Amino acid sequence: MGKIITVTPAQTLLEALRACGADPASSCEEGVCGSCETAEIEGTPDHRGSVLSAAEHAGETP
Ligand code: FES
Repeated sequence: MGKIITVTPAQTLLEALRACGADPASSCEEGVCGSCETAEIEGTPDHRGSVLSAAEHAGETP
């Protein structure tokens, strides 16, 4: 069974995952490289990076 992790407005997804003991893949930490890309299950993410297109942010298949 997976964990439910809440990402506060003051946190990045990586910060929230690390606070829960996870060790997610990452590199640039700035939303540029895409190494931390992951799928959301619920909620409306605030995409701050530049890796995904507007269509991908909207959940559309590129
Ligand atoms: S570590 Fe997330 S985009 Fe680079």
